[in-house]
Amino acid sequence: MAREFSTVGVVGLGTMGAGIVEVFARNGIDVVAVEISEPALERGRAILTGSTDRAVAKGKLAEADRDALHERVRFAVGLDALHSVDLVIEAVPEHLDLKQRIFAELDRVCRPETILATNTSSLSVTEISVATTRPNQVIGIHFFNPAPVMKLVEVVRTVVTAPEVVADVEALCARLGKVDVTINDRAGFIANALLFGYLNHAVGMFESHYATREDIDAAMKLGCGLPMGPLALMDLIGLDTAYEILDTMYRRGGRDRRHAPVPLLKQMVTAGLLGRKSGRGFYTYERPGSPVVVPDETTPLATDAAVADGARAIAKVGVVGSGTMATGIIEVFAKAGYEVVSVTRGMEKSAKVCEAVKTSLNKGVVRGKLAEADRDAALGRVSWSATLDHLADVDLVVEAVVEELSVKKALFASLDEICKPGVVLATTTSSLPVIDVAMATHRPADVVGLHFFNPTPVMPLVEVVRTIRTSPEATATARAVCAALGKTAVVCGDRSGFIVNALLFPYLNDAVKMLEASYSTADDIDHAMKLGCGYPMGPFELLDVVGLDVALSIQRELYLELREPGFAPAPLLEHLVTAGYLGRKTRRGFRDHAHR
Ligand SMILES: NC(=O)c1ccc[n+]([C@@H]2O[C@H](COP(=O)([O-])OP(=O)(O)OC[C@H]3O[C@@H](n4cnc5c(N)ncnc54)[C@H](O)[C@@H]3O)[C@@H](O)[C@H]2O)c1
Repeated sequence: MAREFSTVGVVGLGTMGAGIVEVFARNGIDVVAVEISEPALERGRAILTGSTDRAVAKGKLAEADRDALHERVRFAVGLDALHSVDLVIEAVPEHLDLKQRIFAELDRVCRPETILATNTSSLSVTEISVATTRPNQVIGIHFFNPAPVMKLVEVVRTVVTAPEVVADVEALCARLGKVDVTINDRAGFIANALLFGYLNHAVGMFESHYATREDIDAAMKLGCGLPMGPLALMDLIGLDTAYEILDTMYRRGGRDRRHAPVPLLKQMVTAGLLGRKSGRGFYTYERPGSPVVVPDETTPLATDAAVADGARAIAKVGVVGSGTMATGIIEVFAKAGYEVVSVTRGMEKSAKVCEAVKTSLNKGVVRGKLAEADRDAALGRVSWSATLDHLADVDLVVEAVVEELSVKKALFASLDEICKPGVVLATTTSSLPVIDVAMATHRPADVVGLHFFNPTPVMPLVEVVRTIRTSPEATATARAVCAALGKTAVVCGDRSGFIVNALLFPYLNDAVKMLEASYSTADDIDHAMKLGCGYPMGPFELLDVVGLDVALSIQRELYLELREPGFAPAPLLEHLVTAGYLGRKTRRGFRDHAHR
């Protein structure tokens, strides 16, 4: 028989604690909510009221249920109010000494059978437990932010946590409607161990002016389908909390430099810029605690004004290449009203690309997304050629040929001879340095990267890569063209992986390392990222779709360019590729797809 939890205590009513109170009270459990002082208690009460009022306003909670929920919560200052609860969850700031003091006190105040749980993100549950006389009844219950919304709970058992305590807490999670993954006590558990290196890396990109906050966030939302960009997520987590988590993970997790907090974070925390809770972090909010971002001095001008900044007029576009990317790019330009010259290495290839573009446009017609007349008009705008000479009068060239530097350099040298002056020359490379291609011409100022995503007609993002020689006008032109295509352009420097791949692939590689270390299973890791962080796919699902060989080669490039030891490809990834397990395309990768 699982233990009955009729009353629970929550200590600390900040970002997490107030949400945890709501989770319990919503599920019919009485809560004693404890803070350190009256003003802090009032803040906690206000967070709870704000959240439940929003749920009512959105029609997700009936008024009567909200009132009943509030009646289940008793607020108090000081831990003494917790003398008769069945379980306590502590959610105070991420400091080991503070948590140890609170657990020693809870041990004294609470009944001997009470389970004591911590919501720590990165500290050792074991170290917290030894501050009590009942380490076998101490456990980690790690909720995700916002606790009422996110489905995942990581249940963290130490080497001494009693199995029945683990079972009781698992049953409680089910009663709360949560999905739990039960794991051992390791820095960052599953989700944060995979998340925080990525978040810190994104802060580093921002700190070094590699890209703007808006562009970094848009890249990850639109390029990977994440619910929030990394900097907006840091603001939600709270920069003080994020700093402490990174610092602890750095110290506990093998001193991986990727967890050493980026210096800017410490400065922001010292300056009181803590994120949403203080009204300002990477972004500025309407007021403390509000999720509404308001413009501030670094908010970019409206796109139109920015793109007008020296952008050249583009009417005719050349697309070189005959693969998937070239095909998608031709379609996107033609649909947007540009005259397109497609150049391949032979008329047979041109015929194939033409067929592929037709097929794709026809799909749009069948789905009712494109009128037949618009399809015909788009096709009518494309001319098909097997010689670069036909690019003499285009205004923009987009190169999408094979990912080999020598081939691309030779092509750009030819374009340099053929194209008229002032043309913007763009490469779609996803891994080669754009500057190498630019220097194959005598006009490096006109060369940019235009990194489209696959499938191009569907994916809303384009990374505009400017090299140290790219002119502001060429960048502005690239941005204006993306806007005209209905795509969101993000501008970044010429570094391996640009924004999206540089942030995405190390995280995927880390997931493989975690699996390799037998810390958790592929299913639980996928669950953790989907249900704890709202990712559309777990890392192993995504790796099987992307292709393990592709992931390995991107990861190798990142490692070679940035020399970051943490970026070294996971040996398991290399072995799977060697074994020919490349993902869905070979019907086997991390999972067996043969029978699905
Ligand atoms: N923020 C997140 O996204 C997130 C997610 C999961 C877990 N966590 C973990 O949850 C814990 C709390 O983080 P947070 O972001 O909610 O912090 P927070 O700073 O928003 O809130 C902490 C609260 O604890 C209160 N407090 C401090 N000392 C206390 C004491 N002695 N007794 C009672 N209350 C006290 C503070 O007044 C404050 O309201 C941390 O361990 C953190 O790692 C955070």
